[in-house]
Amino acid sequence: MVRLKVKKTCRLLVVIIGALVYAFWRQGGDWVDYQTELSAEKWIKEMELVRMLAEREIHRRGQSNLQTKGRPWYMAGGTVTPSQTAGEESGLWPEQDPGDDRITNQLMFRPPRLPDVMKPKLKTILLSNGLRTWTGVIRGGDVFSKCPVKSCKLTLDKSESRTADAILFKDKFVHPGHSQINRQVWIMYLLECPYFSRPLSHTRGTFVNWTATYRRDSELVTPYAKFVYYDPNVRQLERPLRNYALNKTKQVAWFVSNCATPNSRLQYALELQKYISVDIFGKCGVMRCPRFFQDMCNELLDEDYKFYLAFENANCKDYITEKFFTNGLMRDILPIVMGARPEDYLLAAPEHSYIHVDDFDSPRSLAEFLLLLDKDDERYNSYFRWKGTGEFIDTHFFCRLCAVLHDDFPEKSYRKPGMWWRGPGICTPGSWRESGPNWAEALPSPKSSTGFGPHFHYKDFL
Ligand SMILES: *[C@@H]1O[C@H](CO)[C@@H](O)[C@H](O)[C@H]1NC(C)=O
Ligand SMILES: *[C@@H]1O[C@H](CO)[C@@H](O)[C@H](O)[C@H]1NC(C)=O
Repeated sequence: MVRLKVKKTCRLLVVIIGALVYAFWRQGGDWVDYQTELSAEKWIKEMELVRMLAEREIHRRGQSNLQTKGRPWYMAGGTVTPSQTAGEESGLWPEQDPGDDRITNQLMFRPPRLPDVMKPKLKTILLSNGLRTWTGVIRGGDVFSKCPVKSCKLTLDKSESRTADAILFKDKFVHPGHSQINRQVWIMYLLECPYFSRPLSHTRGTFVNWTATYRRDSELVTPYAKFVYYDPNVRQLERPLRNYALNKTKQVAWFVSNCATPNSRLQYALELQKYISVDIFGKCGVMRCPRFFQDMCNELLDEDYKFYLAFENANCKDYITEKFFTNGLMRDILPIVMGARPEDYLLAAPEHSYIHVDDFDSPRSLAEFLLLLDKDDERYNSYFRWKGTGEFIDTHFFCRLCAVLHDDFPEKSYRKPGMWWRGPGICTPGSWRESGPNWAEALPSPKSSTGFGPHFHYKDFL
């Protein structure tokens, strides 16, 4: 009788322990993968990682021993501020410099000099949706204290809505109940791509003046990371800093947790897997890496694997997220990209630093090329000659916002911001190769002003 009880208890224990181990294993593949859930905490963590890895890059290159004098203030060790540059930088607005993100121009912008007795006017910026989704931002003038142009303040006080110089709407547009007066600018700040962001339409009309998004034609471009060359004429070193093929025994890695996405990236990866070894970590594959071991797993990217699938969750113009930068470029691994158009990556990435899936007519021909690279160390290493030619910078959104508000900017508004954001040709459910250069289909219009797109609910992507 007693023995039976012990046996039963043991069996129960085994079942419980088994369940615990299984649960741990299941939650394991919880890789950071951009979702629409705009949780501030997550965003802070992501951006900390970007900063940490960028610093590591600089450190590794022995940046501190290099000549940093003469570099602009936004680069490591840089000291040159706009007041010391000769003349004003121009090219602040998309119309003046189409195709360029104008970020460095805005960082080096100096408003026209006022007579010495006059201080530049203080610009007030109202954060319409509060501080919740911002990182390290507090009301007042603090965020501007290290900027070349400091005369700005942030307010959360709705009573300043009519008098503020700018109203910043983050993630969603809430009509302030009045229209723009005295050159007040309304700015729409969006983090996610059109599939996962709230619709911009509003029954009272939106009439946004500026946008702040990852799109290069936004007034204030806010990319997930930005690489700047030390010398724009030196984009490749004679030879890579080291042999990046050394000791690597594995081929392709991918960390992913969202299996069903509008661009069917998983299907592509599974097809690729037929011809080359692809280790898929996370919910969509069989490899696991519990959060607890995340640092160790990340190191695999530097030490064991040759290629990383930096596949975005949607194919949209200019949509290149931190996964390309942190899991790809900032590691010692060659990223294979899917997401934005090939021409977008050309503009946003360092020269010869990645491989775009659309350069190949099928997963099979991509695999054949990767197998070639896998055997040819010299050719593989040619993709790392950009390392050491520049650095990832903080793009100082609030500094740029403050600076350009002091410009004598032309009036402008988006009558239909929704069309600009998700209209014809902006996103494609297929590859850009199939869609062709004249792709002109629009995303179906969103159903309500609070819902997400009709096809994909954000929960589908968790
Ligand atoms: C390669 O392996 C050798 C021997 O284990 C080790 O000493 C060396 O640091 C490794 N190199 C890299 C770049 O990982
Ligand atoms: C902002 O947009 C509104 C509405 O279209 C327009 O009347 C106003 O002139 C614009 N202001 C600026 C400064 O661009």
